[in-house]
Amino acid sequence: MPARILTLAPHAPDPAAIREAAAVLSGGGLVAFPTETVYGLGADALNPSAVERIYAAKGRPVDNPIIVHIAEAEALGRFVTDIPPVAQVLIAHCWPGPLTLVLPAAAVVPSVTRGGLPTVAVRMPAHPVALALIRAAGCPVAAPSANRSGRPSPTTAQHVLADLGGSVELVLDGGPTPVGVESTVLDLTSDPPVLLRPGGVSLEQLVAIVGQVTVPAPGAAAPSTTAPELQAALARSPGTRYRHYAPRAKVVLVEVPPEEAGAAPSAAALSAAVHRLWDQGLRVGAMVTAEAAFQVPLGAVVRVMGPRGDPAAVAASLFALLRELDDAGLDAIVVEGIPEQGLGRAVMDRLRRAAGQGGEVV
Ligand code: TXA
Ligand code: MG
Repeated sequence: MPARILTLAPHAPDPAAIREAAAVLSGGGLVAFPTETVYGLGADALNPSAVERIYAAKGRPVDNPIIVHIAEAEALGRFVTDIPPVAQVLIAHCWPGPLTLVLPAAAVVPSVTRGGLPTVAVRMPAHPVALALIRAAGCPVAAPSANRSGRPSPTTAQHVLADLGGSVELVLDGGPTPVGVESTVLDLTSDPPVLLRPGGVSLEQLVAIVGQVTVPAPGAAAPSTTAPELQAALARSPGTRYRHYAPRAKVVLVEVPPEEAGAAPSAAALSAAVHRLWDQGLRVGAMVTAEAAFQVPLGAVVRVMGPRGDPAAVAASLFALLRELDDAGLDAIVVEGIPEQGLGRAVMDRLRRAAGQGGEVV
């Protein structure tokens, strides 16, 4: 059955619409809703058969655990067995907001919600629609990003409908999500905490709050290159093992060499990437910063992600542009890399994963 769509004012959600959505959750159904990061596919986190429906709808591997969303920081104590001082400091600074904390799970959290792990990931989102929904439902809400597994995360209700329109009862349309990349996932069961996924709260912010954060090197899941504690932490975050964020088109990420970190890829590098794909007979699009918009060879479909010095703007447009160029029927998308500062780290993480699936990083 096609999903029912309710359009809401993001800052003043209609209570009747929220009540209707909450009733779907209480009945074991699925509701897609906006958060400040991306749209989530929600179910009652304490109802195992409802959570099973999330995995089925997304085509998600069952060992990839789901984030539990709460509407008050005080609720955390019901779902974890320990709240260390570092968690309290992070919560005081970052909640509500795009920071997910991994802590030892209380028995009340069903195994299916945790992907069978002894830990649970919890966050308090900052979006008024998400908060109103969780409060009205009266239960914690398990919600992964509301995309088919492997596809770019949805930042509009239309993206949700394109991927999951046939398998979700209700979509709350609160307009485009402001942050555009998912929450930062931080494992607090290790000391110092381990950054499992860069996201809406930057590494710089986390370091300013807690002093030290372990950042796994790219490819750190390879046993020979990684300290045993870090390997264990990565093994505990199954999501890091899967390819993600990939449109159907091949993604070619143009980066600068590490010794030039922070510099922009040259016009020649962008142009060479486009010409190489044209030589293969492919239809090519390009996602670039405003500064590089006129450096892409004429004939490629160009979209501007935002100013080079504004990674938050790039993050906000990233997934929508990947989907838009994909829907335009292009075979390949050349993307300009941006500096890994602030939200730039999350942007580059998503782009590397998108390029990893049939695409390449040049
Ligand atoms: O911004 C977000 O976090 C969005 C919105 C809807 O809140 N949600 C989201 O969920 O991105 P999802 O399922 O697409 O990504 C959750 C990530 C996955 O990489 C998963 O493996 C990891 O969090 N995760 C969940 N529970 C975990 C746990 N107990 N230990 C380690 N990693 C966990
Ligand atoms: Mg996801």
